[in-house]
Amino acid sequence: MLEHETLTAAQTVLVVDDELSVRESLETLLEDRYKVLTVDTGERALSAVRDKNVDLVILDVTMPGMGGMQALDSLMRIPDPPEVVMLSASDSARLGVQAVKNGAFDYIAKPFDSEDLLEVLRRALEKRNLRREVDYLRSEVVKLSGFGDIVGRSRRMQELFRIVGQVCATDSSVLITGESGTGKELIARTIHFRGRRSAGPFVPVNCAAIPQELLESEFFGHEKGSFTGAHERRIGKFELANGGILFLDEISTLRSDLQAKLLRVLQEREFTRVGGSTVIRTDARVISATNQDLRELVRTGQFREDLYYRLNVLPIALPPLRERRGDIPILVRHFLEKIAYRFNRQVADVTAEAMDVLKAYHWPGNIRELENLLERLVAFSSGNRPIGIEDLPSEVIFPEVEGDGDLTTTSRSLLEARDRFERMYILSALRKAGWNQSEAARTLGIHRNTLLKKMAIHGLSTRRS
Ligand SMILES: Nc1ncnc2c1ncn2[C@@H]1O[C@H](COP(=O)(O)OP(=O)(O)OP(=O)(O)O)[C@@H](O)[C@H]1O
Ligand SMILES: [Mg+2]
Repeated sequence: MLEHETLTAAQTVLVVDDELSVRESLETLLEDRYKVLTVDTGERALSAVRDKNVDLVILDVTMPGMGGMQALDSLMRIPDPPEVVMLSASDSARLGVQAVKNGAFDYIAKPFDSEDLLEVLRRALEKRNLRREVDYLRSEVVKLSGFGDIVGRSRRMQELFRIVGQVCATDSSVLITGESGTGKELIARTIHFRGRRSAGPFVPVNCAAIPQELLESEFFGHEKGSFTGAHERRIGKFELANGGILFLDEISTLRSDLQAKLLRVLQEREFTRVGGSTVIRTDARVISATNQDLRELVRTGQFREDLYYRLNVLPIALPPLRERRGDIPILVRHFLEKIAYRFNRQVADVTAEAMDVLKAYHWPGNIRELENLLERLVAFSSGNRPIGIEDLPSEVIFPEVEGDGDLTTTSRSLLEARDRFERMYILSALRKAGWNQSEAARTLGIHRNTLLKKMAIHGLSTRRS
């Protein structure tokens, strides 16, 4: 009980009302229990919530300028918004319903009874505490499952696990390379989770997703007024990642002036915010990732050699999926289980023929492509029969037919080419006919029994629900 009370006592309530008397009386009522802030407009309420840790907002509906309903709307767009209790002179049920619909916890009419108000606030703050706890636990679960989430039995992956294990035990910079979707971010998060800095933050920055002219401030932060649009002081990612890991994704896209600045921080371990003069020390471990050949970019002068060596103290190269096809079956199983868990469905099965096709495909998008495909298949499947060849998209079954048509190359025997073509042709006829076999047979000009035989030969399941 005591614990609960100390917890509530630390919470911050923001009172928003244009009338001084209301602000003062609420402050008097609440200040023993909560930390109380007061402002007189909706606009000020928004900036207070952005700048400070506000747990609950008591919001007047009628104010000059931005009204309470509009402020509520904007508040709800802020990530992890505070709870909001609306306050109004008119006891309009319609307004109350609208407020709650728009995300408010409750609605109270003025003049209010102190005890009633305190009770509403207590419940609203309790809800906030619970939500925080759930968010926290959820993030812990994600981290935990991230731990056992790297699947791979192939020799290449076993070797990789050994290297990752060693990297976890050190504190040097790591450069992770690999094609798109090979698991670079997953490995970076694993190093964080299993490494010495697991108690510190993991701060990702995607260098390609942020306009280069904003990247310096993203890295180092800025002081208020340091450039147009810098309305507030902002803490950069290097500062945020202190004691933890800064994950620089798509590092090859970094402009040369930023490469120079990054190099300086890595060498000197200190920096200043944009427009500032205070020297800030940083103790962030840098893990960077790229799907480009950085060495080649160094050779052609697009990436600084000295920075390359700074980043690449411990290299980790992730193999493309097509170079470890042996892992495909366990990856398929792993993802199907994960998807079933998420959708709360039974784990789907895959026919042996379909698995063969999945193993033969070249997976240009690597593990992400496999995961996305399985998710689509499960979403569209009826769930009472295994996933078969006929469920797979044709670019997976006949990758060469897409694009410039490998069917015309002479690298395979005539028999094999004819076989592949026949399978593809039957499949497309079946699809066009909505899997009505008699209709497909008619289109193909063969007897239905011949079609059934050929479907069996080509591993096309006849059971279509
Ligand atoms: N070995 C693995 N075992 C299980 N899941 C994996 C494995 N590798 C990657 N994944 C999953 O595949 C997806 C893509 O991985 P991730 O985002 O780490 O790839 P990436 O290399 O960062 O890709 P990109 O270059 O496109 O950013 C994620 O959902 C990740 O969890
Ligand atoms: Mg990535």
